[in-house]
Amino acid sequence: MAPALPRLLVTRRLPQEVETRLGKAFAAQLNADDHPMSEAEILAGAEGKDALLITPMDKSFATGIIAKLPSSIKIVATFSVGYEHVDIAAAKARNIAVTNTPDVLTDATADIALLLILGAARGAYWGERMVREDRWTSWSPTAPLGFDVTGRRLGILGMGRIGQAVAKRAKAFDMELHYHNRRPVAADLTFGARYHAKLDDMLPFCDFLSINCASTPETRGIVNDKLIAQLPDGAIIVNSARGDIIDDDALIAGLKSGKLAAAGLDVFRNEPKIDPRYRALDNVFLLPHLGSATRDTRIAMGMRAADNLDAFFAGRKPADLLT
Ligand code: DGY
Repeated sequence: MAPALPRLLVTRRLPQEVETRLGKAFAAQLNADDHPMSEAEILAGAEGKDALLITPMDKSFATGIIAKLPSSIKIVATFSVGYEHVDIAAAKARNIAVTNTPDVLTDATADIALLLILGAARGAYWGERMVREDRWTSWSPTAPLGFDVTGRRLGILGMGRIGQAVAKRAKAFDMELHYHNRRPVAADLTFGARYHAKLDDMLPFCDFLSINCASTPETRGIVNDKLIAQLPDGAIIVNSARGDIIDDDALIAGLKSGKLAAAGLDVFRNEPKIDPRYRALDNVFLLPHLGSATRDTRIAMGMRAADNLDAFFAGRKPADLLT
């Protein structure tokens, strides 16, 4: 008799190719109607399972659910590179493995960072609305106008894989590159960007500030009044990392006062709920967390999560083990 397949709960719908693969390798309980599952529902679904495949929207994995999981759960694979929504210490304490999906979403996320930079600087969002709402009355030499990107200075906060891919793209726009990271990164990976060991030292160079660091206790709320005050007047901030890195009160005050020319945001503190004050501002370009949202990237993320689960149940170390 063939050995029983590991039992897996998947908390959201995944691309068909991924679900087909999971369906062959696991006794998989899928989320056919793709509804966000409550903590109670995840706990009920986890009964008798060996593994969970979750997403960054399953926030309860940071707030106590891990201690309540049945003892049969051996591994939690998150369909994301970010893992601030998983309490790694709690998982370690219960000897539950945790994996993520790095690398495969680097390019797609960096593309969105550039879309935010260009969209915020050139007013792509208000331009699109003007055309769509039939308010475009004539081409004019003086209005509406955006800001140049070429030759301007870009500060990258966080020079990991995604920060490096942002630097590569921004280099092609002839931007002058700066970065802050806990440690300097090899020069061939940073495309000539100048390293600033202290974040404060980089801020006066940031005509644009791109947030590409993880959400950690150190970075949460780091984009605050004090940071914004140190940027050049008319700076533009874009965030394709995590919403809670920004103090919304400070960003909104900066956008209203004109200290900041614009912002581009793909991520929000309590997404999908966003601070309603953003909707009322004309100088902010808003996207619904599209960083990794391409078909190929989402398939690659699912396959990477499946690779990690396969390795674990084959007795090998998963490539993206976080615990
Ligand atoms: C991640 O993988 O952490 C991304 O935010 C998902 O788009």
